[in-house]
Amino acid sequence: MSRVFQAVKKKSAEAIRPSSEATTAQREADDARHCEDPPVDPLALNVRSVAVHLPLRSPLFPFDESGSEAAEQYRMARTTIIQHPGNPRVLVVSSAGTREGKTITAANLASVFALKSDWRVLLVDADLRRSMVHTHFRLSRTPGLAEALQGACHLEDVLIQVKQFPSLYVIPAGEPKVNPTELLDSCRWATACDRFRGYFDYVVVDSPPVGAVADYDLIQASCDGVILVARPDQTKRKCFLEVLEGIPREKLIGVLMNCVEKWFLWKQPRYRYAYHDVRSDSEKAAPKETDGPDELSRRSIGRTPISP
Ligand SMILES: Nc1ncnc2c1ncn2[C@@H]1O[C@H](COP(=O)(O)OP(=O)(O)OP(=O)(O)O)[C@@H](O)[C@H]1O
Ligand SMILES: [Mg+2]
Repeated sequence: MSRVFQAVKKKSAEAIRPSSEATTAQREADDARHCEDPPVDPLALNVRSVAVHLPLRSPLFPFDESGSEAAEQYRMARTTIIQHPGNPRVLVVSSAGTREGKTITAANLASVFALKSDWRVLLVDADLRRSMVHTHFRLSRTPGLAEALQGACHLEDVLIQVKQFPSLYVIPAGEPKVNPTELLDSCRWATACDRFRGYFDYVVVDSPPVGAVADYDLIQASCDGVILVARPDQTKRKCFLEVLEGIPREKLIGVLMNCVEKWFLWKQPRYRYAYHDVRSDSEKAAPKETDGPDELSRRSIGRTPISP
C-alpha cells in the first residue's frame, strides 16, 4: 500500500465520527483541520471506475453513433466556454426555476468536455436537496459530496470514474445529515472547489435553481462562471429576466436554451445524422423473448468510437 494511500486511510479513519457526538466546537475544529489538509492527487489513489448504462430515450450523452444536432450544439457550447476570455474552469449550471434541465445540461456539458481524452473533467452534484445525477447515471447516491463536506470521508474517496469515458469523473450528492446550506456555507466547500481546480481541467457543478434557497449563492461564490439554463416550454420569462439581472456580469458565461424547437438556421439534413434501425420488419414486430423490458429500453454509452 503506497504511503499516500496509507495517509489518506488514516485521515479518513480520524474523520469518521458519529454526528451525534460532534459538538459545535469539535465540528469547527474538524472544519479548520480539514481545510488545512494537504491536497492528494486522486489519480494516485484507487478511484472507483463504474460503467454507466442509460435508458434508450435518455437525453444524456447524445455523442454516440446518432451524431445528433444536440451533440453539435453541446460542442458549440464547449467551444464558447473554452474561448471565454475569463478562462473559467469551474462552472455552475443553474436556472430560474425547477425542471428546466440543469442536471441534464450539466451532465452533457461535462461529457462533451470529457470527449477530449487528454482532459480530466469532473461533474459534481451540488444540488443536495433534489439530487439527480446519481439517478441519471444509475450510481449510488452515497458516499458523495455531502459526506465529504460533513467530514465523514475525504473528497478523494467519493470520486467515481466513468468507465466508458475515462476522462469523466462524477461526485454524487450524498445524503446530508444537516441543512445543505450549512454544509455549503463552510470553508470545506471553498476548499473542495480549490482542490477540484487543481485536479481537473474542467469542473461542472449541478446546482439548485437561483434564488430558491441560499445554496446556489454559496455554490456560485466558489465557481468561476455561471451557465444559466432556460427551457421555452417551462421557464417563466419574468422570473428568468430577474434571475439574469442578478447574476454578476463577470461570472455569467451564457444562457443555454434547452429543449428548443428546430431553428431555421440550424444545419440542414445533409449534415444531420440519424439512427438507422437495421432490423428486418419481422424482427421489429417481434422482440426476442429473452430481452426483458429493461434490456429493451437501455442503451450503452461508448459502444462505438466517439470523436471529440
Ligand atoms: N434536452 C432534453 N431532452 C429531453 N428531456 C429532457 C431534456 N432536458 C431535460 N429533460 C428531462 O426533463 C426533466 C427535468 O430535467 P432535469 O432533471 O435536468 O431538470 P432540473 O432543472 O435539473 O430539475 P430540478 O430543478 O428538479 O433539479 C428530466 O426528466 C429530464 O430527463
Ligand atoms: Mg436537477
